[in-house]
Amino acid sequence: MNYKKIILLVLVALSMQLAKAQDRPTDFLPADFHEGRRQAVREMMPPNSVAVFFANPVRNRANDVDYVYHQDPDFYYLTGYHEPNAVLMIFSEMQNGQEGTYNEILYVQERDPRAEQWNGKRLGVEGAKELLGFSKVYNGSEFATSNIDLKSFDNVLFFDFDNDVRDSRDEADLFDLITSFKAKTNYPSDYDAGKQQLYQMIKSTEVENSANVAQILGRYLNRDESLKEDELLNGFVNASNDETRTDIKEKVSLKLSAHNLNSALLGEIMATLRETKSEEEMVLLKKAIEISAVGQVEVMKAMHPNMSETEIQGVHEYVYKKYGAEYEGYPSIVGGGNNGCILHYIENNKPKVGNDLVLMDLGAEYHGYTADVTRTIPANGKFTKEQKQIYDIVYNAQEAGIMASVVGAPFQAPGQAASKVVTEGLLKLGIIQKEEEARIYFPHGTSHYLGLDVHDKGTYRAFKPNTVITVEPGIYIPEGSDCDKKWWGIAVRIEDDILITEEGPYNLSAMAPRTTEAIETIMAQPSPLDKFNLPELD
Ligand code: GLY
Ligand code: MN
Ligand code: MN
Repeated sequence: MNYKKIILLVLVALSMQLAKAQDRPTDFLPADFHEGRRQAVREMMPPNSVAVFFANPVRNRANDVDYVYHQDPDFYYLTGYHEPNAVLMIFSEMQNGQEGTYNEILYVQERDPRAEQWNGKRLGVEGAKELLGFSKVYNGSEFATSNIDLKSFDNVLFFDFDNDVRDSRDEADLFDLITSFKAKTNYPSDYDAGKQQLYQMIKSTEVENSANVAQILGRYLNRDESLKEDELLNGFVNASNDETRTDIKEKVSLKLSAHNLNSALLGEIMATLRETKSEEEMVLLKKAIEISAVGQVEVMKAMHPNMSETEIQGVHEYVYKKYGAEYEGYPSIVGGGNNGCILHYIENNKPKVGNDLVLMDLGAEYHGYTADVTRTIPANGKFTKEQKQIYDIVYNAQEAGIMASVVGAPFQAPGQAASKVVTEGLLKLGIIQKEEEARIYFPHGTSHYLGLDVHDKGTYRAFKPNTVITVEPGIYIPEGSDCDKKWWGIAVRIEDDILITEEGPYNLSAMAPRTTEAIETIMAQPSPLDKFNLPELD
């Protein structure tokens, strides 16, 4: 072979490699991020324990069509694996087995050319090793036959199965994996994760504090009457002295020692880890938020009273897709006028928004991370006097909430600051007469964590640096409300995504204008969509 031929072959091989690399986005979280997160879980696990995570179920939409698959965020965080029917095991210590030493194992969907022709490529064992960086990977069918003895651990940590999971023809689908897990752990048929959590609470209570814990438990029992039928829980709550409570605590410990299952601890571990974001995560989360903010800006330019809620939703989502965002992080909310008063209004089917305010709460999901941004704008480009009066109260409440989002402040701080401004504003306008009536028009919380879930996991303790939260006050005055008619049908929510840093709060969604003046200015600008005319259909 002459050297020209060799160069040609090398070039062909390189371009094939490149084409392969370009088949999928290249900015997913790197394998060492996921590996680091697994190590962080391991460090928080008790000795001689194993944590078992399952992939999300496949969900049927209708007949032979399933919903687009979405991985369980914890599973994604720890593996980067996008496919269903998988199990991850993390061991607190190195294990020595037939297959050598290991401290984690991933079980994945088996490769299957026919299934892949219909439903897309699978990574399989080799792909998971190569792309996700695991050294021990097996096909899901080997989970059932593996001789790892789950009963030999002091604790098997897992999230209980509160999703309904269907058994398909696949012999190693999630249903079968869960069935194997239950068999391997002697999972009691009457296992109740809620009760187990309360038992754990009793078990870890010191005598001095047991009366307080009994009070807290009493609230759980009042919320869920069926818990009162449990002799131990009811006995602990109604005990008249420490002696009785200590007695019950011993019985609870005995009951818990009948198995090694713990479905409470992983919740705490994952909340602690996912509450704060690493630099790599922030790249993706910022991207999701900026994409969503651009969506709001483009809609502000394109909006006119003849638009339907559906079309407005479509413009946001087109911008998301244009930037390569895979999904919406939650069902998009676009509510014109009175529809904005329904907090999670997702029908979005009003044919014309007319001259009302339009409340738009949407977030792009980029490589797993979701934004959550709300803007409320007048469809005709100009706020009326009443709309502006309500809007400005919400704006000032949001400003107060953002200012309160500082390291060390309690999680409730932004909500308290925002509620105060809303209450004062509503009193001043005469919409309410008493402070406690403010809840009628501002009936939701102000903040939640944001990340892989729109309502992300977190501890709800004092704010730590590198936490992302939303600050989203609102005022909603449905038609027929007990106030002057001129306010009816006005609904305003303003929602931004705030990064909490040692230097103070940083608004990640600031690219989307928030003041009435800035919104009106943007709305007066032309939109490229002004010229996007489609043929009339009969
Ligand atoms: N989009 C849901 C929420 O704002 O919490
Ligand atoms: Mn939100
Ligand atoms: Mn929202």
